[in-house]
Amino acid sequence: MPRAAILGTGHSVPERVVTNDELAQLMQTSDEWIRSRTGIQERRWVEPGTSGIDLARQASVRALDAAGVDADELDAIIYATISPEHYLPGNGVYLQHALTTRPVPALDIRAQCAGFIYALSVADAYIRAGLYRTVLVVGQEIQSAWLDATTEGRDTAVIFADGAGAVVLRATEESRGILAIDVHTDGAHADKLMIEAPGARYRPKESAAHLAARRFFPVMAGREVFRHAVARMPESVRETLAKSGLSVADLTLLIPHQANLRISQAVQKELGLRDDQVYNNIMTYGNTTSATIPIALDECVRAGRVCSGDLVVFTAFGSGFMWGSAVVRW
Ligand code: ACO
Repeated sequence: MPRAAILGTGHSVPERVVTNDELAQLMQTSDEWIRSRTGIQERRWVEPGTSGIDLARQASVRALDAAGVDADELDAIIYATISPEHYLPGNGVYLQHALTTRPVPALDIRAQCAGFIYALSVADAYIRAGLYRTVLVVGQEIQSAWLDATTEGRDTAVIFADGAGAVVLRATEESRGILAIDVHTDGAHADKLMIEAPGARYRPKESAAHLAARRFFPVMAGREVFRHAVARMPESVRETLAKSGLSVADLTLLIPHQANLRISQAVQKELGLRDDQVYNNIMTYGNTTSATIPIALDECVRAGRVCSGDLVVFTAFGSGFMWGSAVVRW
């Protein structure tokens, strides 16, 4: 059975840097609160009107260039996002059109902060099954569009941010590539982090009443999410490594989803990893949800932090609750 190897990575973030001090002018918060509770120093938000597809296209072109793969060689596109341009069709459709004239399948995945791992699991299954040989996986978000940048929404507004990351996967008969992926859901916690409207559950699906009731903004039971994240992520890392016949002692680099620096530090401590074995960039990008892991991975690859033979593990936890991990031999 072939494996899926990551041939190239790329990312793209908006130019506009939003500092904690800037947010403190919009809501009751402070640089000190945000840094000490989340680790975030600044994040990127797009200028209004910027398309998420443009970010995704830039990230994808960089990943394709790094891989030495032409866009017309792609057999499928898997696109993780919770901030699509439109209610329908999905973002994958627009990215397919922006990259290639071939009518390749383009599938959107909605799995929040675990979106990239879920997308990777689909691409990996396609490749292992022999259905497709070369697959582009993208994570992209423009979350600044739906944040409540007032004191009422400060718990989420200071965390979430915009960006895109991409990887090009190709079937290989070599021993490198994705060794195992593990994804889970526990829908009992669906209300702990959600955006309730618009939705087909309502008539009309969007209304001024919903806006007035603030149902278009995210609501998050932050402490509950935190508590589950620090338990599920290490558990999932161990399970996924065990599926590959490996353990934490074999791990070279952990790239955890960047939801809160304190979550990453708790996961590191629970797994007994050194500082140089865990990559964090939440300080400069905030939480870019589906885009977080491919952005971080691309930074690591370009900085030479990932070398041939290294064992790299991704892990993520988020709304749903949905979570998972992937183990990759570089
Ligand atoms: N500035 C100042 N004060 C704030 C802010 C802010 N930005 N946000 C909340 N507070 C206040 C609260 O109102 C509260 O005040 P009170 O005590 O007077 O009621 C106080 O700070 C403490 O609030 P908590 O929510 O208990 O603060 P906590 O230390 O838990 O930090 C945080 C909040 C950062 C949101 C944290 O809970 C967290 O990171 N949770 C996990 C987030 C996460 O992992 N999300 C999943 C991924 S996202 C996805 O899937 C899309």
